[in-house]
Amino acid sequence: LAAKRRMRVRSSASRKDHAIVKEFREGCAAPLPVLRRVAEGIAADMRKGLNSDGGHSLPMIPTFVNTLPSGNEEGLFYALDLGGTNFRVLRVQLGGKDGRVIDTEFEQVAIPQDLMFGTSEELFDFIASRLGTFVQKESGKFHLPSGRLREIGFTFSFPVKQTSIDSGILIKWTKGFAVSGTAGKDVVSCLNQAMDRQGLDMRVSALVNDTVGTLAGARYWDDDAMVAVILGTGTNACYVERMDCIPKLQGHLPANGDMIINTEWGAFHDSLPLTEFDKALDAASINPGEQILEKTISGMYLGEVARRVFLKMAESGAMFGGSAPDKLSTPFVLRTPHLCAMQQDQSSDLKLVGKILSDTLGVDDSSLGIREMAIDICDAIVKRGGRLAGAGIVGILQKMDADSKGTIFRKRTVVAMDGGLYENYPHYRKYIKEAVIGLLGSEISKNVVIEHSKDGSGIGAALLAAANSKYAREF
Ligand code: GLC
Repeated sequence: LAAKRRMRVRSSASRKDHAIVKEFREGCAAPLPVLRRVAEGIAADMRKGLNSDGGHSLPMIPTFVNTLPSGNEEGLFYALDLGGTNFRVLRVQLGGKDGRVIDTEFEQVAIPQDLMFGTSEELFDFIASRLGTFVQKESGKFHLPSGRLREIGFTFSFPVKQTSIDSGILIKWTKGFAVSGTAGKDVVSCLNQAMDRQGLDMRVSALVNDTVGTLAGARYWDDDAMVAVILGTGTNACYVERMDCIPKLQGHLPANGDMIINTEWGAFHDSLPLTEFDKALDAASINPGEQILEKTISGMYLGEVARRVFLKMAESGAMFGGSAPDKLSTPFVLRTPHLCAMQQDQSSDLKLVGKILSDTLGVDDSSLGIREMAIDICDAIVKRGGRLAGAGIVGILQKMDADSKGTIFRKRTVVAMDGGLYENYPHYRKYIKEAVIGLLGSEISKNVVIEHSKDGSGIGAALLAAANSKYAREF
């Protein structure tokens, strides 16, 4: 196939271009010894973060979710999901043990860019007004007993210091959000006040991270769900922890039972294979020095790393005759779906790759050699991302297994996955799996079921609202 390609299109990649790509690939490489160090580093930082707050890479946030859905949840509940490129509202009628999910309806809206940099009031007013419009459209399929307030599970996918299941203070914004006026404020109060301003009579019964919603949603169907991972705009993982393994909560809560811990693993930064392009991306970001794992593996950043490599090739004089097209100099023009489309191009002349290079980066008339190098660059980034995500999963499972005397690996354990990157990028999924098998061996990894839990986070938040309903005892 390569020979056929070469006959059709001239190859004009220079030796310098090849050297840049080679060096980049080597810098991104994440062979098993590197993955092992990352898995061990994550497990070690998990313990530190459970021991005390601050000073460690992993915040290990107690979520105050200590019961996961049982399947008995019943009634009409809402969920509201804020945390990435889109904002979603959802309603679900839960039918209890026999009925499970009777009906759901949802609406999705892209978050206007300016709201990501606006004030807290503007953001929450927007959310509350969309929620209000959605609530008004409730159809006869959904039923709320008279006298009951509508209850919502609020999925807020940023690090929040929780003090109870229905309150929490934003620690910091991530994923390109930089909303002002939220420092030190309870995000549930922000939402409640905005709902008041809209004249909307609803109650937030549960404040949850998207990982926590996903785990709750997965547990509703599968008792073996123990870990949830989001790979989308950002990345994060949560898992079920034993209360006696959370020293920083001792004395504040009962010593027995479990609690979901939100690791905020996007903040991890040790032992990662980083290149000059990752460092430059971080330095130019709105949160330099923070969320390094997230910047290496999540959907918001993969395309930007690739763009920076192309730019260097252009600027070094070899690739595009010395001057970089304007588009190529524009941060974040190249997105993860572009990388995925390039990697899936099966045509002999890599036509789609050429089209993306031209339409998105302004690189017209690329040679086949350049197109092949573009795929190599995408692959290096995606392989590193998938493999590091796999190492993260193994780190969490190993920590859980060590503390439970081997029970995690000896039985079926489900890792619920969600997020656009996981859902839409087959190569990424393949690399996660390879890393997990490589690290755990084929026998143990048979017990680790990595499963897509589609849109589990919305339903999960509604289920947690049901579990914490003011009216729960009536069920
Ligand atoms: C970011 C947020 C985290 C969230 C993740 C996935 O890392 O800090 O809370 O879970 O993105 O959306």
